[in-house]
Amino acid sequence: MRLVIGNVLSADEVRTVRSALAKARFVDGRETAGFAARLVKHNRQAAVRDHSLDTVRELIESRLRANDVFTMAARPKAFTPLLFSKTAPGMEYGTHIDDALMRGLRTDVAFTLFLCEPKSYGGGELVIEDHDGEDSYKLPAGTMIAYPATTLHRVNPVTRGTRIVCAGWARSFIRDAAQRELLFDLDTARRRLFARDGKSADFDLLSKSLSNLLRMWAED
Ligand code: NI
Repeated sequence: MRLVIGNVLSADEVRTVRSALAKARFVDGRETAGFAARLVKHNRQAAVRDHSLDTVRELIESRLRANDVFTMAARPKAFTPLLFSKTAPGMEYGTHIDDALMRGLRTDVAFTLFLCEPKSYGGGELVIEDHDGEDSYKLPAGTMIAYPATTLHRVNPVTRGTRIVCAGWARSFIRDAAQRELLFDLDTARRRLFARDGKSADFDLLSKSLSNLLRMWAED
């Protein structure tokens, strides 16, 4: 399941992140790519050890953890350190699969949070490739897409302007994407029922099923 979530950051918060990035040190993105992805990765990335970005990393992570839709969809247990990338004209990130393990953490859910407006740069779409075709995403600043980290994907060449995004990965309590989707649907239905009828007997039964499926599937 892929999910586009708007307003993860407010316009003010996007500005805060962008101004921190303007002062940060950027290095060749190949430094954090696996040996095969390195061949197709052409972008700039904020230095992971640049502690001037700790505050904005914490801000974004706290917004993600507080986002009900994201937490219901991803069931995150932990995050890898967030990456910030800049892709300038002529740069791209060709088709690749993300590493399954990063810093000892299994990557189940990948996400890209867009930090500049789509009209401010040409190209730079995130394209997710699947057996039945591909879908491309170029979203407003403050909006993110979360998708299973099990997919091949790429970033199209940027033709003008600069594409700036935050990318990250979550280790989910639920390894399997189909199980995460089932839990997301059940939880969504349960919350809608609660909004309509309050804490009914049906709500309690759905809550019991959700809770016990989590117990059955969760890897804590
Ligand atoms: Ni990737």
